[in-house]
Amino acid sequence: MSKVIWEPQPRQAIFQSQGAYECLYGGAAGGGKSDALLAEALRQVHLKNYRALILRKTYPQLSELIDRSRDIYKLSYPRARYNDSKHCWRFPSGAKIYFGSMQHTKDRINYQGKRYDFIAFDELTHFTWDEYSYMFSRNRPSGPGTRVYIRATTNPGGIGHGWVKDRFITPVPPLTPIIDDYNVATPEGKIITMKRKRIFVPSTVFDNKKLLENDPNYLANLAMMPEAEKNALLYGSWDSFDGQVFTEWVNDPEHYDDHKLTHVINPFKIPAHWKIMRSFDFGYSKPFSVGWYAIDENGKVYRIKEYYGCTGTPNVGVKMDPVQIAAEIKRIENDDPMLKGKQIRGVADPSIFDESRGESVARMMSRSPNFIYWDGGDNTRIPGKMQFHYRFAFDEGGECMFQVFNTCKHFIRTIPILVYDDKHVEDINTDMEEHIYDECRYLLMEHPISPRANKRTKKRMDDPLDLHTETKNDYLFFGMRG
Ligand SMILES: Nc1ncnc2c1ncn2[C@@H]1O[C@H](COP(=O)(O)OP(=O)(O)OP(=O)(O)O)[C@@H](O)[C@H]1O
Ligand SMILES: [Mg+2]
Repeated sequence: MSKVIWEPQPRQAIFQSQGAYECLYGGAAGGGKSDALLAEALRQVHLKNYRALILRKTYPQLSELIDRSRDIYKLSYPRARYNDSKHCWRFPSGAKIYFGSMQHTKDRINYQGKRYDFIAFDELTHFTWDEYSYMFSRNRPSGPGTRVYIRATTNPGGIGHGWVKDRFITPVPPLTPIIDDYNVATPEGKIITMKRKRIFVPSTVFDNKKLLENDPNYLANLAMMPEAEKNALLYGSWDSFDGQVFTEWVNDPEHYDDHKLTHVINPFKIPAHWKIMRSFDFGYSKPFSVGWYAIDENGKVYRIKEYYGCTGTPNVGVKMDPVQIAAEIKRIENDDPMLKGKQIRGVADPSIFDESRGESVARMMSRSPNFIYWDGGDNTRIPGKMQFHYRFAFDEGGECMFQVFNTCKHFIRTIPILVYDDKHVEDINTDMEEHIYDECRYLLMEHPISPRANKRTKKRMDDPLDLHTETKNDYLFFGMRG
């Protein structure tokens, strides 16, 4: 009688039954993600040409996965051999499963010329979009008869939080396929449309009964974490996570009209006497950002409109030259009823005045026929960041000093996901999509305010240890449904 070495738990089985090209699994700690990924890699090891690659961001992080593979792989295939120096399992058929890392984006070059039928990313939010998307080019068959696909697991948080959330979490409810069309021009000049499917399968620790049987106290460990980490790691919330810079951020549609305890609000008619300003951060291959702001009698700032030069691929710019951008700013200011006929002063990243490599960006924008002028902004980073905190802070009545119209989608998308830098621990990580943050920072430094403390915080989620009581928590409900 054969002995079962490893069998999927119900939620792991749902992950393993997906047919989509890309599937992301997880979203909370301890759900059995890494185990499921290791098991999934075994699916085709009976085929001699099969090549799989399991990636973690750094090599030391891989050691736990490799240790676990020694349990699962060795017991399932006693004749399989692990080569320590090559970080590779070789199976009796000739199939191979490699472990790899990609600490820096340039390390992707190590995979150039290689091909893998199955590519798996453990902890996907530790990777950038450039690193993940490069591996699409490495995902092709190594011989006949294999299935070619990508799988990933993750917790919320980390440098890739934003793009992973945009790609898998925000567009549709969990377990709903997302299908994208891609047009390809053939050498004969024909356009063929290819389809690619991806899906998110959520899991939380409640889906990992084996772990909870072995260590029921693990739940308490997660519950003991600071609020943001607890919400992310226990409940799988994508709205708060470890390392988030603006933990005070609140986007609450219930208060879009009364403006209480929310940073995002519905647009309203700007009183004629309020001052209007615009701010600018230039980018060419990276996005550029233009924001328009209204400032009321008390110095409260409202971001009322934005023009963001992004292709739709995370952090990729539209390669517009400064003259074109100036023309579009002029058109917007002539057409938009909130801006038309207003005196608008502009403030921008001081580097746009740099003339060392020819005519400056500022000079190009100021030329006829556009006449878009800028003053150099204050680019001191930490004081600028503190201005966000002071303005985001809510007083006892739920009032703050900065709000954004809900039409400013890119601000709302990119500001809450900013994370701290590992080296400059007080500052934000500049490898992220931080162009709107910078643009807004120049504006806020034009109107610095005194420190304000945050007196109100977001609604607390239900206590996880109070599981027997009735709870309205979606994440918890989801975790227990599997
Ligand atoms: N199908 C299974 N059969 C037996 N044990 C399992 C199974 N799935 C998970 N486990 C146990 O649960 C533990 C935690 O699972 P795993 O490491 O896969 O979780 P994770 O979601 O990757 O956690 P983290 O969020 O910490 O990365 C494993 O070490 C293993 O002991
Ligand atoms: Mg794991």
